[in-house]
Amino acid sequence: MSNLYDRLVKKEAKLAVIGLGYVGLPIALEFARRIKVVGFDINQKRVDMMRRGEDPSNELPAEAFKGADIHFSADLNDLKDVEFFIVAVPTPIDDQNIPDLKPLLGATRTVGQVLKKGDHVVFESTVYPGCTEEDCVPLLEELSGLKFVTDFKVGYSPERINPGDKQHTLSSIVKVSSGCDPESAETIARTYELVVKAGVHRAPSIKVAEAAKIIENTQRDVNIALTNELSIIFNRMGINTFDVLEAAGTKWNFLKFQPGLVGGHCIGVDPYYLVYKAKELGYHAQIIDSGRYVNDSMGGYVAKQTVKKIIAAGANPAEARVLVMGATFKENVTDIRNSKVADVVRELKSFSCAVDVADPHADSDEVKHEYGYELTKEVKGPYDAIIVAVNHAEYAAKNEAWFRSMLTPKGVLVDLKGIFRKQVTALNYWSL
Ligand SMILES: NC(=O)c1ccc[n+]([C@@H]2O[C@H](COP(=O)([O-])OP(=O)(O)OC[C@H]3O[C@@H](n4cnc5c(N)ncnc54)[C@H](O)[C@@H]3O)[C@@H](O)[C@H]2O)c1
Repeated sequence: MSNLYDRLVKKEAKLAVIGLGYVGLPIALEFARRIKVVGFDINQKRVDMMRRGEDPSNELPAEAFKGADIHFSADLNDLKDVEFFIVAVPTPIDDQNIPDLKPLLGATRTVGQVLKKGDHVVFESTVYPGCTEEDCVPLLEELSGLKFVTDFKVGYSPERINPGDKQHTLSSIVKVSSGCDPESAETIARTYELVVKAGVHRAPSIKVAEAAKIIENTQRDVNIALTNELSIIFNRMGINTFDVLEAAGTKWNFLKFQPGLVGGHCIGVDPYYLVYKAKELGYHAQIIDSGRYVNDSMGGYVAKQTVKKIIAAGANPAEARVLVMGATFKENVTDIRNSKVADVVRELKSFSCAVDVADPHADSDEVKHEYGYELTKEVKGPYDAIIVAVNHAEYAAKNEAWFRSMLTPKGVLVDLKGIFRKQVTALNYWSL
């Protein structure tokens, strides 16, 4: 192990986190309890908020900033004396579902401009196996004029945090880490051990660590797709999927996945990175691609099923009012990016339904900017259908009487996650 670790611990060397979003900010603040940290982000507005002790992603309380030895900056000069870099910028896909490496390569350029001999750079952004060494390292070499492995070290350590999850936090989840040689692998693992109480798993190579992360999310996506497909089949059979899953789940090795909309910027995105790389290597990843197809089709499917129920109740979809409860990509978070609720709304509107969308967590301006519709401030029935699209805690607390008061006499409650199925006695009800 190099002496960088000791110097970090003695605060003689600095660590920087590049990209302070859902992933970057928690790790930067956690390190800042032990060592000297620079928190770098290109977004000056976000930097100003963090300087005031506010998390722009709304995940961390103000206390998380207290006592942290961190300097928030958008100025490259503040990175010049940093020796350990962690890159945690977004890795989205474009509208053709192709990896968009612009933020990652932008952040790599930033680091490349200030890279010195002996520095360590660890990538945390989720990528396809090979991306770190094939796409990022050449850029670091080009901009710094230094040689990979001999002059500077690179590693990869994926992030496993789950937005909105207060139980599985950064320090309580085992972290996978890797380096470009045994010495850097150990320096990187020891550095993460400063903040990850659950321990660090040392992967044998950067590619293995990259692959581990991408398959965690791909496995979830494919399994949810299978459950979604089962839900489409069971709907035709007139049986409730959640009842079937509850029964099958009594077997010790039955995997507990649920049907639903798969949005957000991880599960619904990362498999496309693997599909892309596989294709580049001459293999068409059919199972992963099919899973993506099924999950990406669920918003349209839910809307069509709702319209069928409206017609079956004797109403005209073109005159129907539908309330969609939830706009975020998952429960109890504020993040609306890549929320598949937007697909449900779009499809309902294509049938000329009048759609109100409510969400106690989402920001109406952001929703308007991203999807073109505003959130309804005050929910006013009667609706021909109510779709509980996201299981926010506020919604789970509602009961049949509330839905009845908001629905027309034959109105349908569409309960995507089946949370009300055991309470509803008289309502027209449907779930996945
Ligand atoms: N959000 C999650 O729960 C989660 C979990 C595991 C892994 N990941 C992965 O972690 C990575 C980061 O995701 P996130 O959710 O934290 O993203 P995010 O969108 O919340 O935040 C990214 C931050 O990076 C900044 N940024 C963008 N380009 C930059 C650049 N060139 N230089 C400096 N800063 C830049 C943005 O301003 C923003 O503050 C992604 O690869 C994602 O797939 C995310």
